[in-house]
Amino acid sequence: MKQRIERLREELARHNHKYYVENAPEIGDEEFDRMMRELADLEAAHPEFDDPASPTRRVGSDLSGGFETVTHSRPMLSLANTYSMEEVAEFCTRVEREVGGNALGGLNDAQEVAYVCEPKFDGTAISLSYEGGVLVRALTRGDGVAGDDVTANVRTIHSIPLKLHEVPANSPPAFRCWPASFDIRGEILMPYAAFERLNARRAAAEEALFANPRNAAAGSLKLQSPALVARRGLEAFLYGVVGEGLPFETHSESLRAAREWGFRVSEHTRVCRSLDEIRAYIAEIDGLRAALPYATDGVVIKVDSYALQRRLGATAKSPRWAVAYKFAAESAATRLVSVEFSVGRTGAVTPVANLDPVQLAGTTVKRASMHNADQIALLDVRVGDMVYVEKGGEIIPKITGVDLLARPAVSVPLEFPAMCPACGATLVRDEGEARHFCPNAAGCPPQIVGRIAHFVSRRAMDIEGLGEETIALLVAERLVSTPADLYTLRAEQLAPLPRLGEKSAENIVAGVAASLEIPFARVLYALGIRMVGETTAKYLAAHFRTLDALVSAPPEELAQVEEVGDKVAEAIRGYFADPQNMALVERLREAGVRFEAEEKTVASDALAGRHVVISGSFALHSRDALKEMIEAHGGRNQSAVAANTDFLLAGEKIGPAKLAKARKLGIPIISEEQFLAMTGDVEKSTPSDKNDNNPQERVLF
Ligand code: IVH
Repeated sequence: MKQRIERLREELARHNHKYYVENAPEIGDEEFDRMMRELADLEAAHPEFDDPASPTRRVGSDLSGGFETVTHSRPMLSLANTYSMEEVAEFCTRVEREVGGNALGGLNDAQEVAYVCEPKFDGTAISLSYEGGVLVRALTRGDGVAGDDVTANVRTIHSIPLKLHEVPANSPPAFRCWPASFDIRGEILMPYAAFERLNARRAAAEEALFANPRNAAAGSLKLQSPALVARRGLEAFLYGVVGEGLPFETHSESLRAAREWGFRVSEHTRVCRSLDEIRAYIAEIDGLRAALPYATDGVVIKVDSYALQRRLGATAKSPRWAVAYKFAAESAATRLVSVEFSVGRTGAVTPVANLDPVQLAGTTVKRASMHNADQIALLDVRVGDMVYVEKGGEIIPKITGVDLLARPAVSVPLEFPAMCPACGATLVRDEGEARHFCPNAAGCPPQIVGRIAHFVSRRAMDIEGLGEETIALLVAERLVSTPADLYTLRAEQLAPLPRLGEKSAENIVAGVAASLEIPFARVLYALGIRMVGETTAKYLAAHFRTLDALVSAPPEELAQVEEVGDKVAEAIRGYFADPQNMALVERLREAGVRFEAEEKTVASDALAGRHVVISGSFALHSRDALKEMIEAHGGRNQSAVAANTDFLLAGEKIGPAKLAKARKLGIPIISEEQFLAMTGDVEKSTPSDKNDNNPQERVLF
């Protein structure tokens, strides 16, 4: 028994980490809850094996580096999950038994309990603090007790008011003014449309895809650049006002007030007064959810009265006045007809399942992802098997299991090919890498076609008229084998080819010539360096300005560039270390492709390569103006103090955590005047009465 308990604890801790920290869950919620329940039951039956570090004792943690961690005003609890109407009925019976007949809660046997039913949004939890009607802080759930301060990122989300709305004088008194200080909790979501756009961009850059909108929302909230967060299309629904002495008696009243104050509260929220009404509500949301533009995974049922909520209280993990009803993940069973192994432009080999067409969540599914060799082995999927496919918000359905009872009498385990299915080269799989790669980059047709298709794509060199089929034709005709060959193509060579003709041939040649105007950042992206997407390419181009500077950059300089970690740096260095790639670059350069960034007006290079964090408010310039000055002098703005921060520009009311971190890391802390002295802007900005201050001699803190 002890062994089983320990095994469950280990597994659950591992899955918690995968879910909250890596944003890459391996198992579904249902499976996770089943394991958690089994552990809780075993622990209850065997108190002798108690362990305060057991996963049953805490909610999962999303804490990650790079953000200040701040304690919540009140812990952010989780919800108990139910998966059937029977369990919901048990919840209601328990609530009504506990509150029934007791005058304390203002309720007696004859009275019914009111419940508020809300959609359960499938995103990531957030706690917002408002003071004097102004958003002052946004924290993730973290470990439930303290969360990461993601205020700068949350400020970019349009459905979150930075300042609360004034409420008309004819509104009920409790709505008229908001509490001087309160928190409101809710969920940050990425709508499906934004999620698909994001993944399409990442797929084009061969960056890892987000498994579902929930992970994409959680990942986006933890980006280090608010400007990037702003582009991710996040939205928020709020569902809980928290604070001392709130002027409400019920949860539903607080939600109506929150809506008046400018928060986005779901219009599908409803007060239900019986189990039948709750049942009808659940059925309604279940029917509606496929049409909603964002993911929901259930319904939350909350006791409406605050007095009853207080009486019911909470366990260490979840309130006893609320419960979640979770919808079963949509899945369907179908037959696995065959498996294809397709080769991408980087040589990565991906298994794709061909299925007997099956209806799932409103669409016909014919193909499903099988990820990699480990996944195939784990599931022991075989051709001819009846398999379960699921679409849990993911764009591509995936195979989640096999019906072993329906396995044909004769079947063989599926083997990952040893040779490239396109060119026959022996596949390689590096240590720690889940995928197999074809190493024959120069000679493997799908890789050649893929690289050229990426090079000409709209966001790269934007050369029209060259779809994958046409490129495959040009490769087969030996007219091109690298993107550089495009620049020597003549219309007479193209016109006779099937489906082309003179007009298309001329358009292609003109498009190739026009691509010589494409700026360096996009050229860099077009090269298709592994892990260098559009954004990273922009940062690299802005930092290095020329390809030559990038090629000869030492690893420590690469690491200074935003979005460039060890793996990206390694991919960049690996790319330029390959003589074939350098030969391609040289041929493109000869053709006239831009390998230098346009000149930008810079005030000076006084801060070249320096990372500056700004905190607090300043006497002479706004924070935005100071940020612009940093960039104009060649510096880079950073949102959080990190090991590579060069200095902290400190104003009044500087964030105490930023200050403490800078001190701990020994990062110089400078005043506005000292900063202006460094950039040489001191004359322009210092009012005459401050001219006799010698900024260099004033040391703050
Ligand atoms: S109330 C103490 N209401 O579900 C009660 N949570 O599984 C706290 N969630 O951490 C939550 N929709 O992130 C509540 N309408 C809703 C919700 C909701 C989604 C999330 C929330 C919570 C998680 C618990």
